[in-house]
Amino acid sequence: MKRNLFFLLALALPLMAFSQAKKAFSIVTCPAQDASKGMNVSWGADTLSRENYLIYTTVKDADWKKAVKVAADTRLCLTYDTIYSKNEKNENVYENVRFTKCDVALSGLKPNTQYKYRIGEAGEEHFFKTAGSKNWSACIISDFHSYTPLGKRLTNAMAMIDKVKEYDPSMDWILHLGDITAWGGSYSFWEKMYQEPYFKEYMWAGVNGNHDNMTRKYRLSNEFFRDAAFYPRNGYQGEEGVCYYFTYKNALFIMLNNEHMHSDETLSAAQEWVRSVVKANKAKYVIVCEHYQWFYGNDGKTSQYGRWSKVFDELGVDLALSGNNHIYARTNAIYADAQTDGTKGTVYIQTPSSDGERGVTITDSLKYNTDKIKFRWSEGGNTIGAMSMQVTEKEMVLTLFDRNGKKIDTATVLAKKK
Ligand SMILES: [Fe+2]
Repeated sequence: MKRNLFFLLALALPLMAFSQAKKAFSIVTCPAQDASKGMNVSWGADTLSRENYLIYTTVKDADWKKAVKVAADTRLCLTYDTIYSKNEKNENVYENVRFTKCDVALSGLKPNTQYKYRIGEAGEEHFFKTAGSKNWSACIISDFHSYTPLGKRLTNAMAMIDKVKEYDPSMDWILHLGDITAWGGSYSFWEKMYQEPYFKEYMWAGVNGNHDNMTRKYRLSNEFFRDAAFYPRNGYQGEEGVCYYFTYKNALFIMLNNEHMHSDETLSAAQEWVRSVVKANKAKYVIVCEHYQWFYGNDGKTSQYGRWSKVFDELGVDLALSGNNHIYARTNAIYADAQTDGTKGTVYIQTPSSDGERGVTITDSLKYNTDKIKFRWSEGGNTIGAMSMQVTEKEMVLTLFDRNGKKIDTATVLAKKK
């Protein structure tokens, strides 16, 4: 009898475990190399999960009649395991994180179409829109340093996206310029952030920030950023899924990782890659994104601008976006180190912070690059700002907003290529 009971228990235990498997988490939609035809979906699953697949269809298919099921590529992810961190109560903890990383590369999608998907049979609905519309728009945000002991940072940033959306209700996706977590090695920070509704409703594309690249104990790795999403694996060696490029209708986005550009050698490897990507992908607009600022916002001193402006001149880069400095700074179009009439050259923009917590006060007057920097903005320590980017065949218009939805600055980037 005792033996029978043991046998029954042995049978029931795994079943109980499966039924208790935590549901899919950290679900995020990223662009495929061509965002009009494909999307990359990433999530984490309990190692006991048996539902590592995605079901998708168009939003028009109200009762999911044409839904298609796609199995995920899976692997055991230990990237964030045993990392010293903090929990929501501000207690010191080691995060023990072992999960199944799931990636689905959706392909063969219809351009300019709203899709919905869910993970497993009972997952929540998530949405994205493929590129393809002649006119399109995005929200641009950075530096909210999501940190669970101070939950307000994330809520401030999401409320800031609300303001951009009020201005542009038809925005198609969200672009981030790094430092969206305080410590990218702390998986709980990503997991909490991905619960926000904006991750259910939009495609997100972003760059690796210095904070995303580190743990509380300053261990550095681009794997924290790489394994928290599923970006196209079209970057150069060692940076696959961290540096990447994608086309969104008429725009080519090239996403860089500053943490792998510190030396002359690594910088030139990145620049060679950017050259090859621009040559192989003709687009009306070329946009380069990185985390580190082009200029030091406080006095205008040259920062990454000095390392990239010649390459951007050579390649006809239209727009250069960055974050990190927590002081917004913006130029008009610049070519050969001088402002142009806008028909040639690159517009440089670095976004402000958006968490209401880690802002930087402008204490100095503009002393350097006074001929280039047209506008700076910060609200000091509690800065909250983000941008709208609206693109037509004729121009890209970038507008900076404050937390009240007040327009602070506008930049226009003219189309220069056929
Ligand atoms: Fe930052």
